[in-house]
Amino acid sequence: MEKTVLRFALALAGALLLPAAGMAKPAAPAPWWAHAVIYEIYPRSFQDSNGDGVGDLNGVTARLDYLKSLGVDAIWLTPFYPSPNADFGYDVADYTNVAPEYGTLADWDRLVTAARQRGIRVLVDFVLNHSSSEHPWFKAARSSRTDPKRDWYVWRDPAPDGGPPTNWQSIFGGSAWTLDPTSGQYYYHVFLPQQPDLNWRNPHVVRAMHDVMRFWLRRGASGFRLDATPYLFEDPAWPQDPDPATGAPVGLKPYNSGLPDNHRIMRGLRTIVDQCPDGCTLLGENAISTIQDLAKVYGARHDEINLPMNFLYSGVKTLDAQTFKARIDDAHTRLNGAPPVLFFSNHDTSRQATRLGDGVHTDPIARLLAAMTLTLRGTALVYYGEELGMTDLPKDLLAATPLSPTRKVADNRDPERSPMQWTAAPNAGFTSGAPWLPVHPAAAGSNVALQQADPGSLWHWYRSLIALRHDNAAVRDGAYVPLDSGNPTVLAYARQDASGHGVLVVLNMSDAPQAARISGWVGAAPVPAHVMLASPLQPAPNIADPVLAPFAVQITAFNPRLDGSLNPR
Ligand code: NOJ
Ligand code: CA
Repeated sequence: MEKTVLRFALALAGALLLPAAGMAKPAAPAPWWAHAVIYEIYPRSFQDSNGDGVGDLNGVTARLDYLKSLGVDAIWLTPFYPSPNADFGYDVADYTNVAPEYGTLADWDRLVTAARQRGIRVLVDFVLNHSSSEHPWFKAARSSRTDPKRDWYVWRDPAPDGGPPTNWQSIFGGSAWTLDPTSGQYYYHVFLPQQPDLNWRNPHVVRAMHDVMRFWLRRGASGFRLDATPYLFEDPAWPQDPDPATGAPVGLKPYNSGLPDNHRIMRGLRTIVDQCPDGCTLLGENAISTIQDLAKVYGARHDEINLPMNFLYSGVKTLDAQTFKARIDDAHTRLNGAPPVLFFSNHDTSRQATRLGDGVHTDPIARLLAAMTLTLRGTALVYYGEELGMTDLPKDLLAATPLSPTRKVADNRDPERSPMQWTAAPNAGFTSGAPWLPVHPAAAGSNVALQQADPGSLWHWYRSLIALRHDNAAVRDGAYVPLDSGNPTVLAYARQDASGHGVLVVLNMSDAPQAARISGWVGAAPVPAHVMLASPLQPAPNIADPVLAPFAVQITAFNPRLDGSLNPR
């Protein structure tokens, strides 16, 4: 028993990066990115400024006051580079420019300056595993076997039967190899054939990509979201997969993902962002299957990716309090004190209200998901429109919408990429032209203008949670305290600052009313003070033993016991 308490106390100290007991040095303040709210913008769908139906950088600039009023610390812009759009920007044809459809470098400069004036940092999406097949580097590489750029990509001779060198599959389906008829060799692509993998074993590639990073940092970026980080190296023995259909999923095969050399490259990228005078960061997209794998992505000395996304949290498929408790406890106790990066939605996955909503309680569920992500320790990601409870575009609407010059291919991720819902005006205020993707039919009844005017809206709930996260030391930087709710459908935890003050968060993950009886404090329980935020509002909440409506949230402030009895801190 004592051992458990000790282990817990150590985990807490680690979680706060506190000096060992007895040492006088106070903990250094956490860097901005370790508790930030980072808002993901898919620029194509956020705000069109010139009526061509495609969102652009000037559109984002025009909405910075909106982002400021919501309270976000940073925005992550998905790719806006010149691109043939085989994968909507994740096939980059020029790493140091802006696609004409999104604007110009001057527009970028204006955006980043205006964002800084509002205290908002901007992260650039850095697609490092592959370029576009239309990038001049690849065009040179494929021009002949002796071209100096040949080795910037991954080439192999055909198998003896003339087929692909291995039987590996691409993450987007089909062989991971495409034959280049001119040179008679195959090139490797873990994604589309239009996305050839760069060869990170070649030092010229490493240097060129470091230069790309320096380019954007000099132009005001505060760091990068790193795309598809596990795939930079392949097993040099090029083994055949005994059965591509079984074993690890295609993105997590031992021969195509997470190879040891990856760590060296990530340390190199980290060295570059660490040179930023005002604290830049790396936000990583890193497929993993276990918490141990995730811990490794931070680097053995926390000198690799600052913020690897926790796909174990976002991947929970049903609202189940026990599953969430396990994932959240792991994120706080098994990442060696590094900040967890929690999120539910992004441009690759069905929106959280669609995925986890039940069609009856979708609004309270959206509030619960927001409360959980925004009151936990670490960094929270919010995908544009989640603050309105946007849902996926109906598939039949998409099927009935013809392709167009601005949407040359249909993508199975189109449902979660619909235009931001600003107003009840035509096209939801997103564009004065024809939107590249249809606006969601719900936009007339659910949009920024309506929700801002309604103090009880989901938008105001997000804003209040973000403000709590900024203003309350326990929620911003405090320790995570795992608790027992006494009820399998209720999740409870606390956040506690160094003085012992904190907040208790209780979440009912069921469609029935539930009572909770909180236990699990180390030492005597603290003294509940008052309810800070609740959904739904209750006229006379029970703060000691909460009774919660279906999918309700109760966030209660507490004070330390003054009688000297032991609290976790
Ligand atoms: C991950 C990105 O999020 C996704 O949108 C893209 O298709 C792949 N990486 C390939 O770059
Ligand atoms: Ca436009």
